[in-house]
Amino acid sequence: MATSRPNVVVFSLLSALLLVSTMAASAMEETFVQCLLDNSHPSHPISEAIFTPQNPSYSSVLQSSIRNLRFNETFTPKPFLILTALHQSHVQAAIVCAKRDNIQMKIRSGGHDYEGLSYVAAVPFFVLDMFNLRAIDVDISTETAWVQSGATLGELYYRISEKSNVHGFPAGVCPTVGVGGHLGGGGYDSTIENRWVKIFFWAIRGGGAASFGVVLAYKINLVRVPETVTVFSVAKTLEENATDIVDQWQHVASKLPNDLFIRLVIDVVNSSTQADRKTVRVTFLSLFLGDSKRLVSIMNENIPALGLSESDCIETSWIRSVLFWTNIAINSPTDVLLNRTPSLVYLKRKSDYVKEPIPRAGLEWIWQRMIELQVPQLIFNPYGGEMAEIAPTATPFPHREGNLWKIQYVTNWNQGGLEAANYYIGLTRKLYGYMTPFVSKNPREAFLNYRDTDLGVNHNGRQSYVEGRVYGIKYFKANFNRLVHIKTKVDPSNFFRNEQSIPTLPY
Ligand SMILES: Cc1cc2nc3c(=O)[nH]c(=O)nc-3n(C[C@H](O)[C@H](O)[C@H](O)COP(=O)(O)OP(=O)(O)OC[C@H]3O[C@@H](n4cnc5c(N)ncnc54)[C@H](O)[C@@H]3O)c2cc1C
Ligand SMILES: *[C@@H]1O[C@H](CO)[C@@H](O)[C@H](O)[C@H]1NC(C)=O
Ligand SMILES: *[C@@H]1O[C@H](CO)[C@@H](O)[C@H](O)[C@H]1NC(C)=O
Ligand SMILES: *[C@@H]1O[C@H](CO)[C@@H](O)[C@H](O)[C@H]1NC(C)=O
Repeated sequence: MATSRPNVVVFSLLSALLLVSTMAASAMEETFVQCLLDNSHPSHPISEAIFTPQNPSYSSVLQSSIRNLRFNETFTPKPFLILTALHQSHVQAAIVCAKRDNIQMKIRSGGHDYEGLSYVAAVPFFVLDMFNLRAIDVDISTETAWVQSGATLGELYYRISEKSNVHGFPAGVCPTVGVGGHLGGGGYDSTIENRWVKIFFWAIRGGGAASFGVVLAYKINLVRVPETVTVFSVAKTLEENATDIVDQWQHVASKLPNDLFIRLVIDVVNSSTQADRKTVRVTFLSLFLGDSKRLVSIMNENIPALGLSESDCIETSWIRSVLFWTNIAINSPTDVLLNRTPSLVYLKRKSDYVKEPIPRAGLEWIWQRMIELQVPQLIFNPYGGEMAEIAPTATPFPHREGNLWKIQYVTNWNQGGLEAANYYIGLTRKLYGYMTPFVSKNPREAFLNYRDTDLGVNHNGRQSYVEGRVYGIKYFKANFNRLVHIKTKVDPSNFFRNEQSIPTLPY
């Protein structure tokens, strides 16, 4: 009996703490809402953009852009408020009021951050949600477009195709990805301007815009594409000489003509020749800005082991190649690209860069490790071409010259809860560990858009340069220092922060 006493004390202490923190949160919410109301223009009322947990639409607004079900759990920390900005002045009000009380602000455009950093935090926080601000203005005469951050890539591709069938824009494959996070994460060189603050331009283009401000819109250069492009998707298992083909691909992929792009998707499937056995399947997925005849001749010269023939190829328009790449039937109405919701799964991603071809024996060893683990997939994305011609300091994105290809580790699952998450994240880390001998070192480089908090985090509220340097060097290499200097100059109080933002210099 006596032993139950301390438990009661602990319990009541805990509930008292909970009560205090709930009261603190609601006081914070109240003064913050009042500040937003005080700082909004009568011509653009802000009240209809405010969602607190009492609002019946709060949960659906929060869930509408969650793109990783790991962060749709009951135990996922939730914002005390969501502001779905309807006008630029709402963004300004959010910054003014949050800065006044040093409240953690999370900025969300498409919500595709792999670690949920745009809508989850360990401290009390609110979400500035940009999804309503998604106008797209395509100007074919100047071959440019203004795109607001809340637009998706699919919306952008579709709006370009409405105006021209000989223009496109080279960015992510998945059409539901948001422009705000994606262009701010870099790797794409056609961004030429952003609306808000010009001096930040270098930093925002790939430096992780959320460290520097809220981007309202990007101006982009459109890219000319031929009326007819060619795509193919050809899958080969180990029994079909996949290793020979990967080996040929890895020696030529970064040197192929600039208008040919071949991505490899590598997964584990049942063997068709031996029941109860698994094999590795490599899917060669390609976009060529030209016709199938020329494509076949380039392929047979460079990767003869694939044995590509014209019957493997589909000639189509650029906009339909987008459908093909994202696994949508190529003859679907192109306005499926306006659908903002992908099919949702629980997921974990990681990234790596490869600088030298992997020895054949290495490839075979990797396949065996993949067969053991079964679930994690690898995607190889070639670099080189025009990317290698851009100086590593031209934008914060440093991973151009010297890289043959980028690896994305892809693990998806369908059960909720921490146990399943730990299991599948564990498999992903294991494969990442196996890849160590074959990928970049000192630092082991990583791609910001494939957000991975395994690389280190800066704890919210007590941001440190030392913590920030750990992941910062991996994402930005030598450009990290320049980003820190810009950050220290433009945001010395480190208001624009998240778990992997650019830190300020220590005093
Ligand atoms: C299902 C899925 C498919 C994907 N497919 C691809 C792909 O094909 N190719 C590829 O390269 N990547 C892909 N990604 C990764 C994607 O490019 C990045 O996650 C990208 O950052 C997402 O942008 P977002 O606006 O959707 O994300 P968000 O989660 O809204 O934002 C990501 C980061 O940017 C910040 N941010 C967002 N908007 C702004 C803004 N307006 N101003 C300042 N900071 C901002 C956020 O705070 C956060 O830190 C995919 C991700 C998912 C979940
Ligand atoms: C997200 O979680 C909510 C609340 O548990 C649930 O109702 C909703 O179906 C979930 N969303 C998805 C896509 O599973
Ligand atoms: C695999 O390669 C060998 C040797 O080059 C060849 O004889 C065989 O036909 C190939 N198999 C397949 C399925 O392409
Ligand atoms: C693969 O084989 C297993 C049995 O070994 C079977 O249960 C499973 O359904 C098969 N998967 C597919 C996609 O055929």
